[in-house]
Amino acid sequence: MGYNVAIDGPAGAGKSTIAKQVAKENGYIYVDTGAMYRGLAIHFLNLGIDPKDTEKIVEACKDVEVTIGYESGIQQIYVNGENVTAKLRTEEVGNMASMTSAIPEVREKLLELQRTLAREKDVIMDGRDIGTHVLPDADVKIYLTASVEIRAKRRYKELVEKGVQCDLKEIEKDIEERDYRDMTRKIAPLKKAEDAILVDSSDMTLKEVVNTISRYCHR
Ligand code: DC
Repeated sequence: MGYNVAIDGPAGAGKSTIAKQVAKENGYIYVDTGAMYRGLAIHFLNLGIDPKDTEKIVEACKDVEVTIGYESGIQQIYVNGENVTAKLRTEEVGNMASMTSAIPEVREKLLELQRTLAREKDVIMDGRDIGTHVLPDADVKIYLTASVEIRAKRRYKELVEKGVQCDLKEIEKDIEERDYRDMTRKIAPLKKAEDAILVDSSDMTLKEVVNTISRYCHR
């Protein structure tokens, strides 16, 4: 069994940026489970399936394979052998991932892959249900959050820096919707595990969050 750190929290809390850095500083493999859901979402989008058409999504899960690899230490997602990593981070893919991740067969599809990685390696795994469901016996559990306003502002800044035109209020609304969906779904909803350490990054700098979480990850 590897040494396992679970980091859960809502969209835009900075989980991946922080988990990546903490993993690097402390010699862990970083596993981004959201990227796996996004990989499946790309598959559903390519097939033109409506996210509400559960039957077709369940069917589409039967002949798709999601695998993970690393190139220069950076996680790559393969869907039926194709590397889709560059296509994962759009709003369209994120929303499709959020909607379809409520379907049990979609979650089942990725669960074994996530558990196998944790069994074999020392991992920092980020997602929504890692501490509560995927790795209930993780050695360290962190619940990383920040207020909706702060998360929206960070996302806005990120997009503006990339030259993307966007509206702060729209982003805020999008984040609220995503939180609601992720927290209220019947299966493995986003919630803080009872034994998780709560880190609210609203008033913290990136460095402060990394240092705080790093302290818990020494093994
Ligand atoms: O972390 P992210 O934005 O890349 O995740 C995209 C969606 O995938 C998220 O809105 C819900 C789903 N997800 C999940 O249900 N369980 C996880 N462990 C990770 C992500």
